[in-house]
Amino acid sequence: MQPTVKPKNPNFSSGPCSKRPGYNVATLQIDTLGRSHRSALGKKALGLACSETARILGLPEGYRVAVVPASDTGAVEMAMWSLLGARGVDVLAWESFGSGWVADIVKQLKLPNVNKIEAGYGEIADLARVDFNNDVVFTWNGTTSGVKVPNGDWIAADRAGLTICDATSAVFAMALPWDKLDVVTYSWQKVLGGEGAHGMLILSPRAVARLESYSPPWPMPKIFRMTSGGKLTEGLFKGETINTPSMLCVADYLDALAWVDSIGGVPATMARSEANLKVIADFVAANDWISFLAKDPATRSNTSVCLTLDVSAEQVKQLVKLLDTHAVAHDIGAYKDAPAGIRIWCGATVQTEDLQALLPWLSWAYNEVKKA
Ligand SMILES: Cc1ncc(COP(=O)(O)O)c(C=O)c1O
Repeated sequence: MQPTVKPKNPNFSSGPCSKRPGYNVATLQIDTLGRSHRSALGKKALGLACSETARILGLPEGYRVAVVPASDTGAVEMAMWSLLGARGVDVLAWESFGSGWVADIVKQLKLPNVNKIEAGYGEIADLARVDFNNDVVFTWNGTTSGVKVPNGDWIAADRAGLTICDATSAVFAMALPWDKLDVVTYSWQKVLGGEGAHGMLILSPRAVARLESYSPPWPMPKIFRMTSGGKLTEGLFKGETINTPSMLCVADYLDALAWVDSIGGVPATMARSEANLKVIADFVAANDWISFLAKDPATRSNTSVCLTLDVSAEQVKQLVKLLDTHAVAHDIGAYKDAPAGIRIWCGATVQTEDLQALLPWLSWAYNEVKKA
């Protein structure tokens, strides 16, 4: 039987992700619009984007936060192009985005001493193989396979190299061991349901020391530059962005941060995401036609939850279309390079009751495509 109750919010995309509960664009603080981003007003908003991020995430003393161009990709590229080359590099990949960073390091930066530690979709790379004398580049949560690192226990506290972590689908939803992470990047469009186009770059004091002591041999485009005359451009970490940001997106981000604060901070956003994963996990346990792509439960993502079904890729496509047409779930097809399946975002902005309302529809759609 076709279910009758639909999710109130059918947005389960893995990026841009659903807006927060109660979001209303009309309530954004938009006094910065139409003004210079370098005005006192503009700088204050951008400065707050940095300082509130540090406060709400509980970053250790001395960690710096910048708003940078080009979303998470921009932040990762900026870090890699500015920091790599001083040591060998260990780069880990187990899905599409991690593989993209491998390709950049090997084919674009053409670094000579690179250890690639890779695994296929559903698996995690062998974390025991990582050499922390090298710089280590990895993704905390592989958004396209729904496989995350289980924790930070494998990261050496006394490492000689830097850890550079693309945590775009993890920050605000997973516990990050900040003292073990020298560079962390993310985008507003993921767990906070913010907008794309701007990236967040978090640097440890060790990363700053590298920036001030090492100049890569390659040219550095203006939008990647974080130092001037061998010193860190401190203003960048106080809201003096390299180029012009969207102040509307900044207002939207500040709104999202205020929401996080209002519900109890990062423990609350993590708990919301975990509760969402549990709804799916219970459903998977009760239905033998659907499985997690992540093989090891400890590595199952609580944000980008990737699932496989015991039907053909074509039938999966039909199911995704059916749910979209009924306005029950939008954008839940697996990533283009990932195995056929569905991906349901379970980050903090998704309401648990919407997921609960979705699941009977999933069973219904599965039966529909099987019948046909
Ligand atoms: C792990 C990971 N890295 C990088 C990106 C690229 O992010 P953006 O489009 O915000 O640059 C994504 C987007 O989904 C991602 O999931």
